[in-house]
Amino acid sequence: MKAPVRVAVTGAAGQIGYSLLFRIASGEMLGKDQPVILHLLDLPQAQTALKGVMMELEDCAFPLLAGMVATDDPNVAFKDVKVALLVGARPRSKGMERKDLLEANGAIFTVQGKALNDHAARDVKVLVVGNPANTNAWIAMKSAPDLDPKNFTAMLRLDHNRALSQIAAKTGKPVSSIEKLAVWGNHSPTMYADYRFATIDGQSVKAMINDEAWNRDVFLPTVGKRGAAIIEARGLSSAASAANAAIDHIRDWVLGSNGKWVTMGVPSDGSYGIPEGVMYGVPVVCENGEYKRVEGLEIDAFSRERMDLTLAELEEERAAIAHLFG
Ligand code: NAI
Repeated sequence: MKAPVRVAVTGAAGQIGYSLLFRIASGEMLGKDQPVILHLLDLPQAQTALKGVMMELEDCAFPLLAGMVATDDPNVAFKDVKVALLVGARPRSKGMERKDLLEANGAIFTVQGKALNDHAARDVKVLVVGNPANTNAWIAMKSAPDLDPKNFTAMLRLDHNRALSQIAAKTGKPVSSIEKLAVWGNHSPTMYADYRFATIDGQSVKAMINDEAWNRDVFLPTVGKRGAAIIEARGLSSAASAANAAIDHIRDWVLGSNGKWVTMGVPSDGSYGIPEGVMYGVPVVCENGEYKRVEGLEIDAFSRERMDLTLAELEEERAAIAHLFG
């Protein structure tokens, strides 16, 4: 049996946590031969609810669940962890301005970034799910100067999966047959899902769909506003699909994507006209525990416009919290 890996989940008593923890403990994220010790972080007022979730985890008698730690202290939560899923974040409350939301999350993710810096394994893989995910990931990365910036990622995988299922429905082909889809930019309605390079059984998806108006007027708005549509229908934000995307993101990063393109929010290397360091969704392929950007894709005028729009939003968010870093 392999030695257990310590996995931190923040916001563990929340909605996404409730969908996520059981799947991690069952081996769906790190493999069916990899025991895990869950480090569960939530606020002091959520500790009782968290105890209930832990009782349920115990009652599943998962063979791979080698232990659990519950805490409200990030320094305890991140001790020796090799994977950290930062899900807990400050939600927007009534009357709260966007700037105040960024500020409140800035406070959370500077503290958590520093705790990761001081206590996590040096090769920790960090995925930020809590919104605004890209900017929160950027804040955590900046607050952890001793860790490699490439250890910090933001979740665009839900947008990627949403786009896959829309394309599958449009073409009548199985989701699993779609290759080379990309989603660029911010996890927000400004994200740009791009199927120009996508193929199904070697055939071009763009040629198969052959409908630019559908791309512009149906596909992009449907994927971009999917989160709002789910809130409208369910009365609660997407949780199971978000947890599923988080599992997909970490599983592929750790175990490899088998040559498939997947989307991750990662610090830009300056390619594709995205300034270095911006936490931006790009297509990657994962192998041997590392992600590698798909390079050299041609960016046409429409794509440039969409990629710059989502970049502008990220730069605005960053400007609003820049003072946290002097
Ligand atoms: P929730 O409100 O059900 O749960 C959030 C949990 O985080 C609560 O238990 C809360 O006590 C905890 N929390 C808040 N501040 C914390 C802190 N400083 N440290 C530790 N725990 C803290 O929310 P839900 O539905 O689980 O969503 C969590 C986040 O994920 C939200 O920010 C949501 O917007 C985001 N999200 C992101 C998606 C993505 O694709 N990137 C998709 C869906 C949701």
